[in-house]
Amino acid sequence: MRSQYILFTSFFLFSSLSQNAWSNTNGSIGINYGRIANDLPVPSQVVKLLLSQGVTKVKLYDADSTVLTALSGTGISVTVAMPNGQLESAATSQSFTDTWVQSNIMAYYPKTNIDSIAVGNEVFVDPQNTTSYLVPAMHNVYASLVKYDVASTIKVSSPIALSALGNSYPPSSGSFKPDLVELVIKPMLSFLNQTGSYIMANAYPFFAYMADTKTISLDYALFRDEKGVTDPNNGLVYKSLLEAQMDAVYAAMGLLGFNDIKLVVTETGWPSKGDENEVGASPENAQGYNGNLVKRALTGGGTPLRPNDPLNVYLFALFNENQKPGPTSERNYGLFYPNEEKVYDIPLTIEALKNWNGMVNGSKNEVVANTWCVANEEAGNEKLQQALDYACGEGGADCRPIQEGATCYDPNTLTAHASYAFNSYYHKNSRLSGACNFGGAAYVVTQPPRFGNCDFSTGY
Ligand SMILES: *[C@@H]1O[C@H](CO)[C@@H](O)[C@H](O)[C@H]1NC(C)=O
Ligand SMILES: *[C@@H]1O[C@H](CO)[C@@H](O)[C@H](O)[C@H]1NC(C)=O
Ligand SMILES: *[C@@H]1O[C@H](CO)[C@@H](O)[C@H](O)[C@H]1NC(C)=O
Ligand SMILES: *[C@@H]1O[C@H](CO)[C@@H](O)[C@H](O)[C@H]1NC(C)=O
Repeated sequence: MRSQYILFTSFFLFSSLSQNAWSNTNGSIGINYGRIANDLPVPSQVVKLLLSQGVTKVKLYDADSTVLTALSGTGISVTVAMPNGQLESAATSQSFTDTWVQSNIMAYYPKTNIDSIAVGNEVFVDPQNTTSYLVPAMHNVYASLVKYDVASTIKVSSPIALSALGNSYPPSSGSFKPDLVELVIKPMLSFLNQTGSYIMANAYPFFAYMADTKTISLDYALFRDEKGVTDPNNGLVYKSLLEAQMDAVYAAMGLLGFNDIKLVVTETGWPSKGDENEVGASPENAQGYNGNLVKRALTGGGTPLRPNDPLNVYLFALFNENQKPGPTSERNYGLFYPNEEKVYDIPLTIEALKNWNGMVNGSKNEVVANTWCVANEEAGNEKLQQALDYACGEGGADCRPIQEGATCYDPNTLTAHASYAFNSYYHKNSRLSGACNFGGAAYVVTQPPRFGNCDFSTGY
């Protein structure tokens, strides 16, 4: 009897814990695993990287078989996606979603820990305008999950872009765009409410900051505004723009009578590089945003409007993706380069956070006193030359001193010139760990390099 009692108790504890996962005070961090690139590691290698970083949640943009297989048995929670191009079929055919769920979910679940399906992505801003198919597609996917008896564990939702809001400031005045309300928002919220699911939203304070640097302070965007911004309607104080954006979504849902639906931020991030007009894109700011956000989410507490609903967010993105179209920032949201080097260092777990002191200044933790970056001769001339060309070109290093006749031209060797350029690049990028690598062509040293009369303390 006793053992039965214990079994019963632990079962009860387990089920009530998982059901109440939302009411835990600490939030969670996941990562978007985008693959619009031709130079990424194979999925099995990527999964090793995720595990080595302590990542417990990942979101995909499709239901790729190799990826889902690689994630099998890891315990990592997975959000699988149905691409926008399949919404019409999904909306109009129950047998389509039955087959889709069979081959993309049931073929892997539960060994692959799929916890949600993102039906479409930012559908309202899709140029193909598949908006009218969205909610019917969600209903059909859900009905298929019911058929295979997994509807209680796998949630169905759809990431919306923040542009679905017509008004987002102040947060308490958040509202959806009027033309979307009857067409799709109300039916979607009813579906989410009925099925115990949550709304998914992609939110980028970077865009808001870039569009209005006069009004929005960088500190506020990067979670380091001690004073905060007060919502004049209710006196609530916001310490970060992301929380203000989240509360605008909560307020917009509340306006339509839905006060119980939770929000998961399915994408947020900050680019480490951008075009000239993309103000704020830098490795320091990206490190500050993502690092401070991780700290904010994992150490608990909700938003001012929803203090009991902690921040559950997915960072965008795992890798820099070299085939994404658009401005430079688009290809530079990654936490990692394709060679798995970190673009900048941030904690991803509560343990890693303990050694991180970036709350005020994002790059602080990575900047070690007195380091320089020099060329690695063993990389070979070809690699060194390529890296030198990159550093002096796109990389923006100051290479004037190594031009003929200038102070660091002598000694006229590839190693000396590359060292000068790499060091300039490294310092320009605040000596972040990823900025002294060049695919193995460079490494960090703790003594100032000596090449002729060249002074390595100038030029950056
Ligand atoms: C998209 O489709 C819906 C209904 O099918 C329509 O009401 C809306 O105007 C369309 N939006 C655009 C931008 O074409
Ligand atoms: C949300 O669902 C609950 C429980 O099913 C229901 O009582 C409530 O009326 C729903 N809310 C709205 C706004 O439809
Ligand atoms: C939750 O956050 C607190 C700080 O607010 C931290 O001390 C604790 O370790 C966190 N718990 C977990 C399980 O991450
Ligand atoms: C953070 O960095 C900025 C710019 O480098 C500097 O002006 C500021 O004093 C630093 N703040 C703290 C608290 O270290």
